Amino acid sequence: MSVLIQGGRIVTASEDFTGDLLIDGEKVVAWGTRLDVRADLTLDARDKLVFPGGIDPHTHLEMGIGRGISTSDDFDSGSEAALCGGTTTLIDFANQVPGASMFDAFFEWKSRAKHSNCDVGAHVTITDLPPERIPELDALFAEGVSSYKMFMAYPGRLYTDDRTRFRAYREVARRGGILLMHAESGLVIDELVSEAVAAGHTEAVWHARTRPPELGAEAIHRSAVLAKMTGVPLYIVHMNCAQGVEVLRQARADGVEIYGEVCPQYLYMDESRLEGPEGARYLCSPPLRPVGHPEALWRAMLQGEFSTVATDHCPFDSRHREAALDFRQVPNGLGGVEERMRYLFSEGVVKRGLSLREFVALTSTRAAQLFGLWPRKGTLAPGADADVVVWDPAQTATLSASNPRLHHSKSDYSCYEGLEVTGGPELVLLRGEVVVREGALVSRGRGRYLSRGPAGKPLK
Ligand code: URP
Ligand code: ZN
Ligand code: ZN
Repeated sequence: MSVLIQGGRIVTASEDFTGDLLIDGEKVVAWGTRLDVRADLTLDARDKLVFPGGIDPHTHLEMGIGRGISTSDDFDSGSEAALCGGTTTLIDFANQVPGASMFDAFFEWKSRAKHSNCDVGAHVTITDLPPERIPELDALFAEGVSSYKMFMAYPGRLYTDDRTRFRAYREVARRGGILLMHAESGLVIDELVSEAVAAGHTEAVWHARTRPPELGAEAIHRSAVLAKMTGVPLYIVHMNCAQGVEVLRQARADGVEIYGEVCPQYLYMDESRLEGPEGARYLCSPPLRPVGHPEALWRAMLQGEFSTVATDHCPFDSRHREAALDFRQVPNGLGGVEERMRYLFSEGVVKRGLSLREFVALTSTRAAQLFGLWPRKGTLAPGADADVVVWDPAQTATLSASNPRLHHSKSDYSCYEGLEVTGGPELVLLRGEVVVREGALVSRGRGRYLSRGPAGKPLK
């Protein structure tokens, strides 16, 4: 089947022109200002923008956290929400159980990911790496896993010590991969948490007060030092504070290959959300920061400091949050996979003058380049997968969990409730087939596992 998308403003990270895009089967086969061809299906894109499908490289679908609690979205609902927001590819996480095989974690993840409606890849979270387990990395790279996450937070669960991290950095670097870091000094945080709880402070806002921004910045610095020594490309997930941006800049100036990911929640909300009876709904790690940090992050983004905008989509139902009497029991994480592109277009492009090409780079292209999907994903150039978003820049909407056209996540609330946005997807194509029309998923079950190549460098 061939599809001609006609007369739209085609924007990629490197091109911006009005013209036509021709798809044959699953691939883009031609683009130009005027294509003199016939196709089985012609889509009129006049007055619309035509973007490569979004790539969200940070989601946690159907992730169990113990106590019988999992993130609200499974692969079916999470990928439906992603597609309805213009995102056609997710990179999710397979978490190694400490002491167990990374490979088993990956295969367990892969059996769940079969239910995805959009394309999916996996980062593997390394929680321990004794020498005898290192060969598993070869098998994982052969399966197309070229990116690995580690935690400097959550002692006793996901935390890794310096020795393990140093070893993992080296082994991932040797194989051409990239290391994702959750940079928060978990041991110091635990000390602050014990003190706060002993003083009777168990309300949600104390989650943020016991995880000060300095401990995020300090962790980025330490991980950057090891990255420089080992030569591993380092990707700092969920950048969240002004101090962190400063350390990112310094590390880059010092020659470290380091990339920053920011998430809409840190651009949109501040720590005051954690106050009051509904505060637990807004609890995530790293936490929302005091007033001033969101604008500092926006400034950094407009100065080109960040490589990607991802979501860390990790929603939990409000009942699991508000039932917790103590911030230590509240599941950590927020949703946003469906809102990501609308939020960044409206608040970034429309309100703050973010360029369209940078919007595409942040939401799609650089993730493809860093995580071994380029040039198959992240562009509309001939040869790429025909993952296409026909975006209406004039569409307006009020985001709400009660609007079935705007909220496909199973989470019972949205952090963006009531936010008015301009711009949204009119049509979404996944590998050549229209999968979203008028805010609804019209084709299910087309998602594929993405075996990824080595980590690359963003082209600009
Ligand atoms: O609070 C968060 N971010 N939960 C998800 C796990 C993580 O640290 O990315
Ligand atoms: Zn994290
Ligand atoms: Zn995460």
